[in-house]
Amino acid sequence: MLPKELQSALANLPLAEIRYFDTIGSTNAEALALAEKGAPDGCLVIADHQFQGRGRMGRNWVTNPGAGLAFSLVLRARTRELSHLALFSPLAALSVSRVLEDDLSLTPLIKWPNDVLVSGKKICGILAEAIWHSPETATVVLGIGINITPASVPPPDQVIFPAACLEAAAGRPVDRWHVLAGCIQNILAYRAILDSPAFIDEWTARLAFRGERISLENAGSETVEGIFLGVTPEGNLRLKLDQGQEVQFSAGDVHLRPARSHS
Ligand code: BTN
Repeated sequence: MLPKELQSALANLPLAEIRYFDTIGSTNAEALALAEKGAPDGCLVIADHQFQGRGRMGRNWVTNPGAGLAFSLVLRARTRELSHLALFSPLAALSVSRVLEDDLSLTPLIKWPNDVLVSGKKICGILAEAIWHSPETATVVLGIGINITPASVPPPDQVIFPAACLEAAAGRPVDRWHVLAGCIQNILAYRAILDSPAFIDEWTARLAFRGERISLENAGSETVEGIFLGVTPEGNLRLKLDQGQEVQFSAGDVHLRPARSHS
């Protein structure tokens, strides 16, 4: 049953459906299954405890009971969004970042394409998964996991990037349902400008390591280094190689790390 506090936090949002689970394997898997069965745009799947959460590049993401946020939003792509599906995960990152800035006075940065960092530690992970129903119809499931209390932070040996939680960063208790409502409100607002330069500008302004030397690693562990110039209107990363030329990478292909200092 939907907890009363959650119901009241979401009361004024234009969500088509809310599916709440005390325990679930993965809210993304559930939302994808619902989308295949015709779930409407704006269907929210949320769980208190997620034990088989899916992360990017085949990693997993656990959400302990009462400790974090794990939710997925079904978004039926509109015609003009079909050529911008890669921007849905930055849309989520920007929406989460704005809640941290506006409600918790934090200064988050976005590690391209979409991890939200506070003081260099990961606080939120995002996994957007798309299903194409036909060449003209697609659904995006936007999955977001946010660490709220210290119990949500995985042990250091289980993560490849240092992690933290909102309560430690803000130095006070954080109402997770309030954070959820803010994220959804921002997703709906930013979605309206997804294909605009204003959206790319807001994302770019929060990019971690922009202007710095970074290393990109592909699935075969090959790396390329260069200066992180920013992103293209399609959301690809622009890298300036040491020889001076610019190359671009899409989010599915590479993993970003700050480059090791050569000094
Ligand atoms: C990552 O950083 O690798 C992405 C993690 C995404 C986790 C969220 S939690 C809610 C949603 N359901 C899932 O199974 N995964 C996403």
